[in-house]
Amino acid sequence: MKEGIILTLGIGVIGLGLMGAVHARNCYGRIPGARLIAVSDANTESLEAFTSEFHLVKGYLDYRELIEDPDVDAIIIAASSSVHAEIIRGIVPLKKAILCEKPLTNSMEESIELHHLISRASIPFQMGLMRRFDPSYIQAKALIEKGSIGTPYSFAAISRDKDAYPPSYISKTSGFFKDTGVHDFDLARWLMGAEVATIHAQGSAFISEHIKEFGDVDFAQANFTFTSGAFGSIQLTRNAIYGYEIRTEILGTNGALQIGWTHRTGTVLLVRDQVIRDTVEDYRLRFEQAYVNEMVEFVRSVKASQAISPNSYDGVAADLIADAATKSLQRGTLETVDNGVLESSG
Ligand SMILES: NC(=O)c1ccc[n+]([C@@H]2O[C@H](COP(=O)([O-])OP(=O)(O)OC[C@H]3O[C@@H](n4cnc5c(N)ncnc54)[C@H](O)[C@@H]3O)[C@@H](O)[C@H]2O)c1
Repeated sequence: MKEGIILTLGIGVIGLGLMGAVHARNCYGRIPGARLIAVSDANTESLEAFTSEFHLVKGYLDYRELIEDPDVDAIIIAASSSVHAEIIRGIVPLKKAILCEKPLTNSMEESIELHHLISRASIPFQMGLMRRFDPSYIQAKALIEKGSIGTPYSFAAISRDKDAYPPSYISKTSGFFKDTGVHDFDLARWLMGAEVATIHAQGSAFISEHIKEFGDVDFAQANFTFTSGAFGSIQLTRNAIYGYEIRTEILGTNGALQIGWTHRTGTVLLVRDQVIRDTVEDYRLRFEQAYVNEMVEFVRSVKASQAISPNSYDGVAADLIADAATKSLQRGTLETVDNGVLESSG
């Protein structure tokens, strides 16, 4: 990082796919105190499409040129998960700030190793677990902390994508729990204020042939226990044809919290024998505000040299649960989540 006070944080975005395009567009004008300096994508067409629309933004086919650009202070990693590790390893010696999309990497061992590398280098690092920045989840967290539902003892999460991702995306991920469930596991830790202790998962590929070919599933569920004694469950599907749906329910000794909805707008069409609402297309619409909020918070924390949350510890902790769920799914066993590995190695 540059020495002294940074008035405007220069941002570079690596990866201009579905997720990277959201971050790059937000950084172009919606984030106070930040300026989009450069973007990078290994695909020439994606790169040219973006730089021709957004003037004065530099475009690099090779991400290494972006991270070395002296005008870039902070880097958003939104390239395919399979290349996160090499990009992080390239940035750490330059001591630039990082916001990395989940997961940290596709390999559990490498994620733990990178977490220790990032911690030792003391670089500002935020994990792209954006649900923590969604207004409804922020409110739920505040209500739990206020004691509004007493002691939370049950956490239930439902995550449904409308359509399965294409083979080009699935081939660069390491399973449904790690790719999607990780958001729910992060919410579980954050909202319940406890770690997950054990997990038992099941799943199958009911609809998507290409997902079966990659050894993955399009439906998965898991039951788990928390170190606090509370219980949790998660249900994931990739083919909820009606729309994107994210819901969470928490039961406490003095009440309950329900977070989430299926409709996009408040408009309801009422005609003979039917009442019709619209639905949410995908995560980019449902979490539009959360993506802006997470970037605002990243820029603010980096400029103020303040501690960042969620950080690489949170990223790996959620990954550890997803990893245990994946093993349970493959082996049919109850798995223990080895949270101690984050404290003991490094
Ligand atoms: N937080 C969320 O809600 C959320 C949602 C979707 C995806 N993601 C994460 O964002 C990342 C990207 O997902 P996506 O859906 O945008 O995928 P995508 O396949 O649409 O886009 C990935 C992009 O990365 C580019 N790329 C690959 N290797 C590169 C390299 N070496 N240098 C530069 N560019 C490279 C590809 O050309 C592609 O344009 C993944 O890690 C994914 O897990 C997060």
